[in-house]
Amino acid sequence: MIHNIQPINAKEHQGDLLLLYGDDTAARTLPLGKKEIELLNARRSVKKNQLIVFDRLPHHLYLLSFDSEQPSPECQELLRRKAADILRLLEADNVSSLAVTGVGVLPEEVEAIVEGLTLADYSFDRYRSADTYHLQTLVVDSLFLKPDILEADRRLWNRILWCREWVNLPVQDLNAPAFADELASIAADLDNVTCSVMDKKQIESLRLGGLLAVNRGSVDEPRLVVLEYNPSSVHSQPPICLVGKGIMYDTGGLNIKPDDYMQEMKSDMAGAATMASVLFAAADNRLPVHIVAILPLTDNRPGFNAYAPDDIITMYDGTTVEVVNTDAEGRLILADAIAYAVANYNPSLIIDAATLTGAAVRAISTFGIAAMHQNADNPFTLLSLLGNQLYERLVQFPMWDEYNELIKSTVADLRNCGTSPHAGTITAGKFLAHFAKQTPYIHLDIAGVAYFSKPQHFYRPGASGFGIRLLYAFLQMQDMLSDKHKK
Ligand code: BES
Ligand code: ZN
Ligand code: ZN
Repeated sequence: MIHNIQPINAKEHQGDLLLLYGDDTAARTLPLGKKEIELLNARRSVKKNQLIVFDRLPHHLYLLSFDSEQPSPECQELLRRKAADILRLLEADNVSSLAVTGVGVLPEEVEAIVEGLTLADYSFDRYRSADTYHLQTLVVDSLFLKPDILEADRRLWNRILWCREWVNLPVQDLNAPAFADELASIAADLDNVTCSVMDKKQIESLRLGGLLAVNRGSVDEPRLVVLEYNPSSVHSQPPICLVGKGIMYDTGGLNIKPDDYMQEMKSDMAGAATMASVLFAAADNRLPVHIVAILPLTDNRPGFNAYAPDDIITMYDGTTVEVVNTDAEGRLILADAIAYAVANYNPSLIIDAATLTGAAVRAISTFGIAAMHQNADNPFTLLSLLGNQLYERLVQFPMWDEYNELIKSTVADLRNCGTSPHAGTITAGKFLAHFAKQTPYIHLDIAGVAYFSKPQHFYRPGASGFGIRLLYAFLQMQDMLSDKHKK
């Protein structure tokens, strides 16, 4: 989709137009006749939020009425979601170019609509023979959005759409080596970004025992990808490390997933795709923050020499882990990546994103992220706050000491799943927190939100890119919080 910015005069505009209408007192500036305004006002007195279509053949006027008097995150989310409804109408009317303007609305509200339209327009088309509908051009009124703001937004949205594409790609066409190559080639084109890709030999010499164990049943080699974005403005600052689960496909391994539980497990690398996308978006928009993304990549298969329940693995940091269930593989590769971050980067904060547990989906369904933290009160509070604002919300799960008992092993230091079937999301988070040691650490279990089986607002079925807007906003805030602004 091409985004343009230019002045738009609603009354004189020739072409398909979306008009946002947020303020009762501004009716006379609408491109409507007297009778139409009366009808609109009558409808608005009953219900503020409505989408009305006026046929102005050969064009259409889509009028979205809402209440702009009290700007709020809820209103912005409502607009993003309405944008998805509008896109379905545009598809039915086969509209290829749309102009957007507003009367009595805020710039943030126009931005939310443009965001909703952009995110709703994506579909996974690569393997389809038939053409699919897409909005070709979106023209935004320059009264509401400045070109540099739209440009920064557009770069971020592009990263979200690319993240979705990677997650939607089946493992047949995106295995660990292929994904690593793709990330390296993107990094090569970005300023201040370096990428190092470790192959199996290097991973062996580093002794990343968790990643190697999970990879043993696969014919594809594992990779450890380390992306670093280090702009000159913040060279000496310790980085924020972003760790992402990169299971290219999760069959469960020898504890193979039964029935249709395996379906959609191409999405088990969404954490890695999310973190790479966040780092790339930060680099695209030159955020003044030092970021390192550490992405362990492999699939989890029950092949020839697959790791087995009862195996005891020595992890990168020397911790020994009893394998109880080979389907609890994500925490093994993540634990190595977290320990690697601690040992090599002295980070100010580690955040991981992982499609880690089915229990997270059972706890809160597809409406948010199950989150935990250790030694990271302030950053967690900020992330939570931003989550509420952007509607990529976090629910905090506890880190209580009592859960440590559930992951103690009788034959090793830890076991890779809890002794009880309860609190599966928490025991997974506790397991990972062990490897972060004293480093401030935030764990994001995105199992419920990374991939939707059914359409949900501006998400079609498939990968969502959920969490990228949130983490990007969090990184954007770091500059404001940094020492240079402290008196
Ligand atoms: N990748 C899955 C978790 C998952 C399930 C993500 C559903 C998205 C949707 C993970 O590797 C897994 O299999 N977890 C097990 C852990 C258990 C064996 C302790 C689970 O949640 O059942
Ligand atoms: Zn699994
Ligand atoms: Zn998994």
